[in-house]
Amino acid sequence: MADDVKCQNSQKLIEELVETRERISLGGGQKRIDSQHAKGKLTARERILQLVDEGSFNEIDAYWTHRHTDFGMGEQRYEGDSVVVGFGKIDGRMVCVYSQDFTVLGGSFSEVQGQKVAKILDLAMDSGAPVIGIMDSVGARIQEGAYSLAAYSELFWRNTQASGVIPQISVMVGPCAGGSVYSPGLTDFVIMTEGSSHMFITGPKVIETVTREVVGLDELGGTMVHNAISGVAHFAAQNETHAFELTRQLVGYLPGSNREKPPLGPVIDDPWRMEERLNSIVPTDPSESYDVNEVIELIFDKGSFLPVHAYFAPNASVGFARLHGQTVAVIANQPLAKAGVLDIDASDKIARFIRFSDAFNVPLVTFVDTPGFMPGVNQEHSGIIRHGAKIVYAYSEATVPKLAIITRKAYGGAYIVMSSKYIRTDMVFAWPTAEVAVMGADGAVNILYAEKLKQMENPEEERRKILREYEQKFSKPYHVAASGHVDEVLIPAETRPKLIAALELLRNKKVSSPKKKHGNIPL
Ligand code: HXC
Repeated sequence: MADDVKCQNSQKLIEELVETRERISLGGGQKRIDSQHAKGKLTARERILQLVDEGSFNEIDAYWTHRHTDFGMGEQRYEGDSVVVGFGKIDGRMVCVYSQDFTVLGGSFSEVQGQKVAKILDLAMDSGAPVIGIMDSVGARIQEGAYSLAAYSELFWRNTQASGVIPQISVMVGPCAGGSVYSPGLTDFVIMTEGSSHMFITGPKVIETVTREVVGLDELGGTMVHNAISGVAHFAAQNETHAFELTRQLVGYLPGSNREKPPLGPVIDDPWRMEERLNSIVPTDPSESYDVNEVIELIFDKGSFLPVHAYFAPNASVGFARLHGQTVAVIANQPLAKAGVLDIDASDKIARFIRFSDAFNVPLVTFVDTPGFMPGVNQEHSGIIRHGAKIVYAYSEATVPKLAIITRKAYGGAYIVMSSKYIRTDMVFAWPTAEVAVMGADGAVNILYAEKLKQMENPEEERRKILREYEQKFSKPYHVAASGHVDEVLIPAETRPKLIAALELLRNKKVSSPKKKHGNIPL
């Protein structure tokens, strides 16, 4: 064949491929794209392009189609089916992505969608890259019956295998109903988007039929419901663009897999910075509160704190931050909400965050100021024992560097579980305002002296005297420093350099745990 004919033939093949690519990029067609845009939503590909670095996305499996024919499916065949899959970069670091395409049969979860997502999850696990799922789907593809359900099972199995191996992030930008909620539920972080994302096992209609409750979509499973009440979601985005910004920010703190340490962030702050404000931030009156997030902002690299689960259990504050560029996990009681008491939700929030951080080699820094576990029949009957036990389990199991700072109250069981020395915290610091005791002064004096005081001539004066004695003994950290329960008493302003020095010491920490198949965390 003459060279010019060969050349023309090749050109034709390339033109055909370019045309196919253009067709594929339209997913379910322009009409459905317009309808997606009219709802204020982006398409699956537009979302990926917003998420990853410009020009970095590589799509795979764009030609994969289903082979079903029932219920008119033979006429509804789209290349790539209902999901766009591939890999790209976030700030130059590799991530794997799948993005459900609502324009193709409502993004319904099909056998092919399941196979494509399984492939990218396997690739992510083998190559040590975080996986980000962008969710916008009506749920299982009804026409495919058990094939669709089997594909979901494959996904849940893989989400579970990948747990603790690679970070998994679910970005919710549409509906997620029925059993499909268990994939995001199995991943590490769920980001929901105001207005467009909903998650529920059974929708409003079924609920009304079964329980007679009348409820709207937002009220049942909207962004703030899952951020503030159920705790299913970890972040609330105002819109899709914000959701992708949050995802990029989050990925910046995390290693690609459990085989790496987290990436070093920008070193922008003076490691020796001392903040005088810290010396007076904790009120000496134990009934007054302060904002522990301000403490965190003052100590860690400026502007580096990313709160996680910010709206759920606000009596605890957790999130990622950086210390001299290094990612750390911050866990703190928040005296501003319920005096920083540990209740069921706070226990779940703290324990889950610790376990993620330990799995991905992120050191833990804990700030302790809590009056203890929440008293009350409701908390007891709802299982505060098993929920609270998760905190001690998570800290005890964690082998990453662990630092703690007791800023004020550390009473009873709460003192033990919040990263005390004896659950193997590497270094426990106390501020001069730290109080370590079995319980607060009032409660202790009531238990120990109630009967004796009744028999005294001047019970009120005696009571005040004993209270003063108790407070003098336990309201300063020196008795615990004198017995090695804390390693050092700090001037609050020097906390930043002290933490940086301790982390440097522990950089290559290595401890071994007993051999086992897996533990059995209280649930
Ligand atoms: C296949 C489906 C579908 C489905 C909708 N479509 N549901 N195709 N399988 N399950 C198609 C529609 O025919 C339509 O096709 C397109 O998807 C978009 O759907 P619409 O209803 O037109 O969209 P919208 O008006 O935006 O409403 C979206 C919605 C609604 C609110 C999500 O579709 C809805 O309430 N669906 C039910 C959601 C649900 O209960 N899912 C749970 C299923 S059970 P065209 O051709 O017009 O674009 C489940 C079990 C999983 O998922 C178990 C896992 C273990």
